[in-house]
Amino acid sequence: MTKKKSLLVLMVGLLSATVLFVQSACAAQDDEKLAKLLADYLLKGRAVVANNQSIINTSGKADKGFTAAAYEAQLAGDFKKMTGLDIRNLDTSDHNSNLLLKLHNSAKEVVTEAQPQINQPGIAFKGFSPAIYGKRTGDKFFKKTGISIKQTSLKYRNPANKPDKFETATLKKFESGWVRGKSYSETTGSGGKKSFRYMVPVYITQMCLTCHGAPVGDNDITGRKKEGYKEGDVRGAISIVIPAK
Ligand code: HEC
Repeated sequence: MTKKKSLLVLMVGLLSATVLFVQSACAAQDDEKLAKLLADYLLKGRAVVANNQSIINTSGKADKGFTAAAYEAQLAGDFKKMTGLDIRNLDTSDHNSNLLLKLHNSAKEVVTEAQPQINQPGIAFKGFSPAIYGKRTGDKFFKKTGISIKQTSLKYRNPANKPDKFETATLKKFESGWVRGKSYSETTGSGGKKSFRYMVPVYITQMCLTCHGAPVGDNDITGRKKEGYKEGDVRGAISIVIPAK
């Protein structure tokens, strides 16, 4: 090969490496945007279900009026403030909005299917908690899209929420000197098994303490053992896995 030719080969090589690098960096950026949107949605949805706990858990009244339409109406305003998106009028030609709508539809299906549970008369605690809402919504969304949304914790109650190796390491990061509310993301695996992983911490607020607070080991109203968390503690995380396209 002449000097000129080998220089050319080198330049073409460098150029295609750069293109590949930029391509994968852009893909990661797109995934990050999508993951944040999905996590924001689940956090808002959890908050709506949390805000309705006292209505859901009254024993006297049968019809609580907490339907999918009521859930949507309560979510829409805050979600728009948070993301600028109108959940009732999404542009589904946009890839991310299309997936967001699938998540929203999954959540509405979960609320609709829970109506007998929510409206059951004569008992107080119904068990339709933010965690159960989140678990069911994540399961439905995974079936529709192959994207996993999981609530996880180092002190998990539900074995289905058990953290894997990546989640355990990230939860430990969140628990020691992490910037409050900051997410962590990474592209893991290689070849056909590549995926984009995103986690955002979930914190204990005043209203979580009745079940997750002190004293450790006492039963909460659901009959489960309290973990002894204090306000502001990291309770766990929302974990999202987007498989490479
Ligand atoms: C009424 C009691 C109750 C309240 C209040 C409550 N939780 Fe929970 N939480 C539970 C139960 C029960 C589970 C296990 C659900 C299951 O079996 O899937 C759970 C599970 C979780 C999980 C999933 C990890 C795991 O342990 O399996 C997270 C994260 C979580 N709660 C966060 C919170 C946060 C944050 C708050 C306050 C905003 C809160 N919870 C308020 C009862 C409660």
